[in-house]
Amino acid sequence: MSENERKMPVHVAMIMDGNGRWAKERGMIRLQGHNAGMEALREIVRHSANIGVKYLTVYAFSTENWKRPEEEVSGIFKLLVRYVKSEIDELNRSNVRVQIIGDISRLPEESAKAAGYAVETTKDNTGLVFSIAINYGGRAEIARAARLLAKDVRAGRIAPEDIDEAAVASKLYTADMPDPDLLIRTGGEHRLSNYLTWQTAYSEVYVTDVYWPDFTPEEYDKAVDWYTGRDRRYGGLK
Ligand code: IPE
Ligand code: IPE
Ligand code: MG
Repeated sequence: MSENERKMPVHVAMIMDGNGRWAKERGMIRLQGHNAGMEALREIVRHSANIGVKYLTVYAFSTENWKRPEEEVSGIFKLLVRYVKSEIDELNRSNVRVQIIGDISRLPEESAKAAGYAVETTKDNTGLVFSIAINYGGRAEIARAARLLAKDVRAGRIAPEDIDEAAVASKLYTADMPDPDLLIRTGGEHRLSNYLTWQTAYSEVYVTDVYWPDFTPEEYDKAVDWYTGRDRRYGGLK
């Protein structure tokens, strides 16, 4: 195994930010930016599989994004339905397994159905695990894990003393996944915006000013190249 192969990220998480600013700079409406972002995502999923990434987790809608105008929110959810309809066949052919992380019970019915359909159709696939975070918040996810553990304690399945880091991790949406090795944020903001709060404890964070609709496979390669040069110490010494 070459040095580079050994250091390739297994799990890449992405904060797909900058759609609105991309649109504004072109005199377009924000939804046109989200639409362009959807096009960019198609290439990024393909490229992830091509370069050997095993898990790709993208932030599509946060628990805080409900604060946006109703028109933008419903437009984003309509785009999600369109994305599933246009991509599902190729995703399935490419052996991609789609997962949704987040609370989809609050989604418009049509979007929740589309999301469920994508998950169901691809559930036996063994290639790239492609997780879409929708109505996702890192704090909400941890609170949910605490709730689930409390129920286990009340039912006598576990004792409070059994609650360690592994127990918490086992109740997260990402229970079956390794933590992200590389977190990419487009759009230039140096913050996590409530994304994968627990899981990113030791992720390498790459921020690019490139807006999400302009995030091409070439830009992705730059992030991966940067990642391969990192020295991950996990609190220890080299
Ligand atoms: C990210 O792009 C997509 C979502 C949050 C749904 P934005 O819509 O946040 O774009 P900017 O940050 O306003 O440019
Ligand atoms: C984070 O972007 C959420 C998604 C990309 C879905 P935001 O645009 O919502 O984040 P803030 O508001 O700049 O922190
Ligand atoms: Mg933004």
